[in-house]
Amino acid sequence: MLVTAIEARPLRSLERVRVPLGPGITSIVGPNGVGKTNLVEALYFALTGRSFRTSDRRELIPFGASLARAEATVRDDDGIERRLLASVSRTEGRRHLLEGEAVDPATIARSRPPVAVFAPDRLSLVKGPPAERRAHLDGFLAARWPARGELRKRFGQALAQRNAMVSRIAAGYGSSDALDVWDAGVADAAAPLVAARAEAVAELAPAFATALAELGLEDGELVYAPRAEGDAETIRAGLRERRDADLKLGRTSWGPHLDELKLNTAGRALRKYGSQGQQRAALLALLFAEREALLQARRVIPLLLLDDVMSELDPGRRELLVARLTAGGQTLITAADEESLPAAARGSMVRMPRPGVIDAAGGDADAEAA
Ligand SMILES: Nc1ncnc2c1ncn2[C@@H]1O[C@H](COP(=O)(O)OP(=O)(O)OP(=O)(O)O)[C@@H](O)[C@H]1O
Ligand SMILES: [Mg+2]
Repeated sequence: MLVTAIEARPLRSLERVRVPLGPGITSIVGPNGVGKTNLVEALYFALTGRSFRTSDRRELIPFGASLARAEATVRDDDGIERRLLASVSRTEGRRHLLEGEAVDPATIARSRPPVAVFAPDRLSLVKGPPAERRAHLDGFLAARWPARGELRKRFGQALAQRNAMVSRIAAGYGSSDALDVWDAGVADAAAPLVAARAEAVAELAPAFATALAELGLEDGELVYAPRAEGDAETIRAGLRERRDADLKLGRTSWGPHLDELKLNTAGRALRKYGSQGQQRAALLALLFAEREALLQARRVIPLLLLDDVMSELDPGRRELLVARLTAGGQTLITAADEESLPAAARGSMVRMPRPGVIDAAGGDADAEAA
């Protein structure tokens, strides 16, 4: 599966811009403020229906307008092209359509490649709270093993039910024995999620360490730290043991909703002790490890969006990064200056000389000025 084109029409500062994407690296080069990140955001929005910059999608609506829209063209392995269109309007909210039809999220997810983003403000994945890393890990699970995509949701539902019962009982309604069935529900949903997360991290950890070393940081470790481990029966017993404490607290105090994914160097958390540059390197290394796992599984071709990554790296590391990218998978890179791009990343280069304007010098890009 490949994304063959992205179109913003309109989105933020982009009035109407269409950029074709090649199978390997496509680079977008232009000065600060022309709309490069907006284009990356448009692609992410068209594929996922979300933004990686904001949780309020209405920010994507151009100033003074009432609608933002982005469309991605995806070619499947049989050569059939389909269009994914995401839109958000002030009055009607968000829509996500496949070939003009409203379909369920699972169908959309099957109709697009897995997509990962590196952007300066995504560092919160490394330095932010554990919940972000759990969600990210579960996202990888879903891309790597589609059948496991439901594990997170199933656990979340079981946990919500148990929590509701815990607060009912804590408020004096019903006896604590009523929790037996909810303990079992949580345990049944937790055990496969914990096992899947452990397997995913075991698969990612060596590639993470290698990629991080390549970026100049030795002794990198990706460590899964589950709260609850073992089979459903063990987890159920653990919940039973903590029941009184949970009733005092009014919520479930133990389980995979509290797991941590640790990014360390030499046993220390990059989250707490890493420099900005080291945290960036860790984010890149994690995304690379995931991409490699997906490429090796050969089920899908992952798409990596690298916003402004070159400015963060010295020339030697830029070369290493591009060497990794040319080894497989599809990539969109943005850069403010062409010189920061290694030669291998300039093959499929699109220039954005002025806000919202695509230079068709490459021969196949077209656009209308904003
Ligand atoms: N909702 C919006 N409507 C219109 N313009 C917007 C909106 N949101 C942001 N912009 C404008 O988009 C421009 C920034 O675009 P973008 O972040 O894509 O730039 P960039 O090319 O990535 O620049 P840099 O190289 O500095 O990262 C700014 O001029 C900003 O005012
Ligand atoms: Mg930018």
